[in-house]
Parts: sequence; C-alpha cells; structure tokens
Amino acid sequence: MILTHIVACSKNHVIGTQGDLPWHLPEDMKFFRDTTKGHVMIMGRKTFDSFKGKALPNRYHIVITRAPSNHTFQSSETSPVIFVNSLEEAMKKAGTLTAQWGEEVFIIGGGEIYRQSLPHANKLLVTLIQKEFEGDTYYPEIDEKVFSLTEKRDIALPIPFSFLTYLRRPV
Ligand SMILES: NC(=O)c1ccc[n+]([C@@H]2O[C@H](COP(=O)([O-])OP(=O)(O)OC[C@H]3O[C@@H](n4cnc5c(N)ncnc54)[C@H](OP(=O)(O)O)[C@@H]3O)[C@@H](O)[C@H]2O)c1
Repeated sequence: MILTHIVACSKNHVIGTQGDLPWHLPEDMKFFRDTTKGHVMIMGRKTFDSFKGKALPNRYHIVITRAPSNHTFQSSETSPVIFVNSLEEAMKKAGTLTAQWGEEVFIIGGGEIYRQSLPHANKLLVTLIQKEFEGDTYYPEIDEKVFSLTEKRDIALPIPFSFLTYLRRPV
C-alpha cells in the first residue's frame, strides 16, 4: 500500500476556513478528482461533512471519527462510505481493499488527519498556492530532510500555483 497525502495549501500553510476551502480553483479540483478516482480515500469526519451529504462517485470513503456508531450513511457499491474510530483502523481497512481499489490510498484531510498521518505517508501531492490566505486549518511543515521534491508543475492562472510531488526519502 502506498499512502499518499493529497492537499491544496497556501503559502502560509492554510488549507481551510470555517469548514470549507478558502479558494475556488477548478483545475485543482479536476486534479483531485482525476487522481483519486477508483481509489480508497481516508478522511476526518469534518472533511466528510464538508461534502454536505454527498459521497464522491467511484471512490471508497473511510471516515475517521471518535463516535462511529453515531454515523450512518446510505452508501452505494460504487461509492462506499464507512466510519472507523482511529487512523490505525482506517489504514488497516485500506490495506484490505487494495486488490479492488488500487495500491495507492489517499489521505484527503483535513488538518487533524494530515498531521496525524504524516509520519506514515510515502508520498505527498501538494498544490501550493503562491499566495497567503486567512484560515483556521493548516497543513504541517514539510521536512525536506524526510521528503524530497521530485516534480513541480507551475500554473499561472487564475492565481499562480504549483503541483508538487514529494517522495519519502529512503532511510
Ligand atoms: N485544502 C485541502 O486540500 C483540504 C482538504 C481537506 C479538508 N480541508 C479543510 O480542512 C478543514 C477540516 O479539517 P479539520 O482539521 O478541522 O478536521 P478533519 O481532520 O477533517 O476531521 C477532524 C475530525 O476527525 C476525527 N478525528 C481526528 N483525529 C481522530 C482520532 N485520532 N481518532 C478518531 N477520530 C479522530 C474527529 O471526528 P469526531 O469529531 O466525529 O470525533 C475530528 O473532529 C475544512 O475547512 C476543510 O474544508 C482542506
């Protein structure tokens, strides 16, 4: 299993504000949809709530919450949704799904789940927005001694941003 963070982050590390994204970047949304399609996605309960009751088609959703029994969701075969009570359980469950849903498992946020899972991540797909935003949720500092930048694609419009790929350095 390859554990990959996929995140859009501002220059000052902001990823969210008041339960939502601070920006509207259609090209980044397309990148997110294309990249995660057909895969397992692990997320925090607040990030799942930001979908406003809609699961994303053709993805397996594993939602982490301290109270899984409080949650029910009418999921379908093509977009299953399950609730688990720890990151460890989420990763264990994801490991059982790779034959059907692919070796690459995406951590899609939010701030709490990125921070807790960073020590386990093999790869980081970071959309770095080259501007400062105000917000209340942050992505952790990437330690370049631990992760090396292997790809960078710059986009100019509507605001300058870059698609970055980091891989965990071999120990
Ligand atoms: N820019 C991006 O790429 C991006 C991506 C995703 C999200 N976001 C933004 O990030 C914000 C949400 O992030 P967030 O940090 O507030 O919340 P989050 O990480 O999405 O979810 C936090 C919730 O996860 C559960 N949780 C966390 N740690 C747990 C643990 N160790 N064991 C069991 N459950 C645990 C708890 O759920 P319960 O309270 O149910 O127990 C907690 O309230 C939103 O603004 C969203 O739009 C941005």
